[in-house]
Amino acid sequence: MIDMNKIATAFLHRFEPEPAHELAITAMALGLTPKAPKDDPRLSVQCLGLHFPNPIGLAAGFDKNARAVRPLTRMGFGHVEAGTVTPRPQPGNPQPRLFRLPEDGAIINRMGFNGCGIDRFCRNLARLHRPQPNGRLRGPLAPLGANIGINKTGADPLKDYPELVARVRPYADYITINLSSPNTPGLRDLQSAEFLTQLLDAVNKRNAERPPLLIKLAPDMANAAYAPILEAAINGGAQGLILTNTTIARPDSLTSPHAHESGGLSGRPLTSRAREVLQHVSAINKGRLTLISAGGIETGRDILDRIRLGASMVQLYTSFILEGASILPRLKAELLQSMRDDGFNSLEEAFGVDRP
Ligand SMILES: Cc1cc2nc3c(=O)[nH]c(=O)nc-3n(C[C@H](O)[C@H](O)[C@H](O)COP(=O)(O)O)c2cc1C
Repeated sequence: MIDMNKIATAFLHRFEPEPAHELAITAMALGLTPKAPKDDPRLSVQCLGLHFPNPIGLAAGFDKNARAVRPLTRMGFGHVEAGTVTPRPQPGNPQPRLFRLPEDGAIINRMGFNGCGIDRFCRNLARLHRPQPNGRLRGPLAPLGANIGINKTGADPLKDYPELVARVRPYADYITINLSSPNTPGLRDLQSAEFLTQLLDAVNKRNAERPPLLIKLAPDMANAAYAPILEAAINGGAQGLILTNTTIARPDSLTSPHAHESGGLSGRPLTSRAREVLQHVSAINKGRLTLISAGGIETGRDILDRIRLGASMVQLYTSFILEGASILPRLKAELLQSMRDDGFNSLEEAFGVDRP
């Protein structure tokens, strides 16, 4: 049988990565995406007070401007995290800034939060919730996360993040505070218990009511650094952590000619560190915050492994770019097979069974 997803991916990979990405988003926004069949109920997840049809989310950075949220949920993602959105529009770093490393199953990016800014982002989200002329609602078919960040210049994090939360809260099912992209100078220095305490205090003061709040962290901190941040997140009323963003490390195993480009590395070379961070944080978290694991997810077995370690869900980006939309039915079939192999009838049964 002809696999249109594979043909579309092969076609897109004939272009440089950024034009290919733009083309893919535009095609999706125009509705050129297949509708995935309904998910097997064994794949459903309840967390953050929300129902997710499956545990496979699209990580932030793919749909930075929230232009293709509904098509991405139609395609079968269990949630879509739009953004990172910044207060003001900004162009990001000079091109080239996005590199495929297919030999390594990886991507390096130094995009630098290119995006349309919060005003346009919110207009795009508002449109999702507006009834169509035929009276139908065209909202997302799965929960929507809004990932927020700060501008490269003129940022005031203790003002900007609370304001961004206020702007996206009418539209988002959950909100992620991104403190971990390596391409905004100084951003990752905000990953401290002291700063997070002040930040959550400011967010709570400005937002008496809000959707669940998650903090997205980098993989490049020492293991001991995660515990104080976790406690600050809990004490400040956050609901979850996303572990992890891209890494600035460059493992010796990389063979691609682009291996030494600067920026954040994602995909297969991130797998073992992302897994290790999850394992470490899950052990100290003891189920208090919801954990979402990202970094090098390529198989259904990877997903079940992270859920067994205490992640409620996973997110992917790189493997979706390298393989295309056909990755979703493959991952779901493999995940169901791995659940059968391990004797689980639901993901809830598997949740945390390997927590140290
Ligand atoms: C091109 C690219 C752009 C990204 N942009 C963002 C971003 O804007 N905000 C963010 O929180 N993470 C961003 N990420 C990180 C991903 O959301 C994810 O955490 C990371 O890539 C690890 O998952 P993966 O190995 O499946 O790609 C980006 C990743 C890539 C490859």
